[in-house]
Amino acid sequence: KQFPQQFPDNFLWGGATAANQIEGAWNIDGKGLTTAEVVRKAEDRKKMSMNLVDEESIKEAIQDQTTTNYPKRRGIDFYHHYQEDIRLFAEMGFKVFRFSIAWARIFPNGDDADPNEKGLAFYDRVLDELEKYQIEPLITLSHYELPLALTQKQNGWLSRKTITAFEKYTRVVFERYRGRVRYWLTFNEINTGTWGFHETGVVETNLSAVEKETVRYQALHHQLVASALATKQLHEIDPKAKMGCMLARMQTYPASCRPEDVRAAQLEDQKNLFFTDVQARGEYPEFMNRYFAEHGIELQMEQQDETVLAENPVDFVSFSYYMTTVTSAQQGEEVNGNMATGGRNPYLEESDWGWQIDPVGLRITLNEMWDRYRKPLFIVENGLGALDQLEAGKVHDDYRIDYLRKHIIQMKEAIKDGVELMGYTMWGPIDLISFSTSEMSKRYGFIYVDQDDDGKGTLKRIKKDSFYWFKQVIATNGAQL
Ligand code: BG6
Repeated sequence: KQFPQQFPDNFLWGGATAANQIEGAWNIDGKGLTTAEVVRKAEDRKKMSMNLVDEESIKEAIQDQTTTNYPKRRGIDFYHHYQEDIRLFAEMGFKVFRFSIAWARIFPNGDDADPNEKGLAFYDRVLDELEKYQIEPLITLSHYELPLALTQKQNGWLSRKTITAFEKYTRVVFERYRGRVRYWLTFNEINTGTWGFHETGVVETNLSAVEKETVRYQALHHQLVASALATKQLHEIDPKAKMGCMLARMQTYPASCRPEDVRAAQLEDQKNLFFTDVQARGEYPEFMNRYFAEHGIELQMEQQDETVLAENPVDFVSFSYYMTTVTSAQQGEEVNGNMATGGRNPYLEESDWGWQIDPVGLRITLNEMWDRYRKPLFIVENGLGALDQLEAGKVHDDYRIDYLRKHIIQMKEAIKDGVELMGYTMWGPIDLISFSTSEMSKRYGFIYVDQDDDGKGTLKRIKKDSFYWFKQVIATNGAQL
């Protein structure tokens, strides 16, 4: 029997972004303040700042009407540059552009009686521009932000009321953009809600470790229900459109072949895949019920939740892929690499930010995800954050080309293995504000943006060497890497 040798003809090549990392225009045209816009810039690039939020810091942020300490308020001013930026994406040959809608642009307080027309009109203009170049939109409904008012009023996703508010928002956007958007995603990297505020919008004050974990999984339960309800709505409103879930997939390797280490790695993987298990298969897996029971985590669920989850699985499974991690069972041994502090995988190199680079891990991940779900997969983020140098109007980012090339080679291998892969949206096709540290100097783009960490610069867009390389990758549908 034959097996596929190359990327399918309709493969969706493109790039991915998020509203709070690119748009700017944080306080105009009726937009409300978001949870992302009260997160201060990290003081040290190795120390992420996205979850350092409490009641005090929110008060301080509200009083501070500048963008200096809160770079996600200014992004790269995509709000006013979207035409130029999409033209550049089109020049590279993009087939798809992933972006998110800022909920607070549509409902400034999260639960307003009527939507904000100016916010809806902005995304109409973005869609017009994409249609001009036949670029498919891929829209994330919630990418690491929610209207701050919902945090202040009801502690974000900890409240069931947030499900109702979200349902209202998704209904409005599905109806408004019906027939114009084929691919949607519910929550970006939903699993990272186990890290706290940036995903859940929950302020956690004076909680014990168990209470904290309970609060996070409770908020995430509400998101899982909201995700299923959004899938249901989309299928009713726009039957041709497809809904995907989105996971920050981090495969865990055992530190050794000791069975205890292998089991420890398996548990880490289960905890990571739990979210996609619920969203793609429609029920909480048994291993997680056991985990909750043994860790004193009691979740409040309503009777209809089980049915809602069971009846509305997603159509496709998407994930981000940046790294793999390593775990050991040995007590007190801290070998989680990358995002966490501690040990490293000795076989891998790492980025300037200490993120370990593992292209083969992408092939492993794709095979495992395909085996587990048998639903089309979509890599909606992958890329290299690096310190680029602009020299005489050029950026020679051969390290980025090398990184992407190695990952795309492994994608091709996975396709040959039989994995059904819909597309690849590389993260940050244009330099943007970093999620975890709010730096500008952690650059991912094919397009350089002239702005520094303090927000100084002309915002001029400059094509890097990787721009021309990716153009050729798309033009040859991945044949020429
Ligand atoms: C993913 C997020 O976790 O990684 C993006 O979905 C983020 O929002 C990306 O930007 C890279 O992370 P960072 O911290 O380098 O911007």
